Amino acid sequence: MSPTPVTTSELTPTGPSVYTWEATDEEVAARYGLRIERVARFDLNTSPAPPALAARVLAAGRFERPLSEYPPSDYRRLSEAAAAVYGVAREEILVGAGADEILDLCAKAFLRAGAAAVLPSPSYAMFRVLTEQRGATVVDVPRGGARAGYAMDVPAVRRAARDANLVWLCTPNNPTGLAEPAGAVEQLLDGLASDAASAGRVPPVAVLDEAYAEFAGGTLLGLRERYPRLVVVRTASKAYALAGLRVGFALALPSLIAEIEPYRPPGSVSVVSVTVVTEALKTPEEMQVNVARIAAERERLADALGAVGWSVGPSITNFLLVDFETPARAAGVAHHLLRSGLVPRTFGPGHPLAGQLRLTVRSPKENDRLIEAAADLAGDEDGV
Ligand SMILES: Cc1ncc(COP(=O)(O)O)c(C=O)c1O
Repeated sequence: MSPTPVTTSELTPTGPSVYTWEATDEEVAARYGLRIERVARFDLNTSPAPPALAARVLAAGRFERPLSEYPPSDYRRLSEAAAAVYGVAREEILVGAGADEILDLCAKAFLRAGAAAVLPSPSYAMFRVLTEQRGATVVDVPRGGARAGYAMDVPAVRRAARDANLVWLCTPNNPTGLAEPAGAVEQLLDGLASDAASAGRVPPVAVLDEAYAEFAGGTLLGLRERYPRLVVVRTASKAYALAGLRVGFALALPSLIAEIEPYRPPGSVSVVSVTVVTEALKTPEEMQVNVARIAAERERLADALGAVGWSVGPSITNFLLVDFETPARAAGVAHHLLRSGLVPRTFGPGHPLAGQLRLTVRSPKENDRLIEAAADLAGDEDGV
């Protein structure tokens, strides 16, 4: 019997509050009868290798605190390093265990049962999960299609936000790989502020996830001055290649940080993570080399996949979206890739991108395996 493709979604909603997470390397290897070393993660948008500085810090064994102790509850050195990198005051930073914990804290701080959160869809899957975990309702506002660069529909998001407490924004957007058009986020925030002023209420909080900002080379962080209900979210997971350490940041005016702070656990980021990420922020050269390497590799991978007939969309991030037109064909390609241990991000039935696969730009060697598998498939129409 041929194996059924595993669900490789970052998570697949199976009910209002029951989710299954992506298959582990071990599960993929077992399901497809592979050695675990053959499993390559094209589904998680991580960088292919950690920076050398991480190995150096670990080998030196000198951490900010002895490992027998808790991390400093204010993550002072880490916050100072982040403040210098992002160009904000230390009081404008809140540290969390990855961007995911920051998003979770925002949901806890700003969503109550019965509240509404607006979501320009499709976007990062956790936005929906976190909203539903609070007993709040997701108000989906469909994005434009591929030809519109998957841009959010600003007037529709603005209308939907009139009765909402929170708006989830993401630029560059996962999984579509592109930024919102210039001025779109500003226009939305201005609209939210003026609607709230005329209704005599506090505007909704806008959570702007910039997990991929370094790849795009820009930030909208400056907008917090004009829109005090804006939280920008950044991470050490993507461009800094340190996803395993779980470090992320909320950046906002001190008044808004103060509203999130009561929901923060005192020590969710380990002493090891604090020490390595502080060092990475203070010496960004390896991150910059990683970003340049991924940009070059992204173009090579996109060209090679295009050359075998795959329809690869434009991307300013570390991942590509490939359109196979139908969910059945996308599932067939996913199955073919998985048999070689190459794990794509699939989108479940009913998802607006069900006919597409998302593929992370990995190391040249892993990308070559993907290119080879795509070429095999092109030479074997029955394989799909
Ligand atoms: C848009 C977006 N936000 C947040 C995250 C999670 O980041 P972290 O590893 O910092 O929790 C991801 C990871 O895929 C993402 O795509």
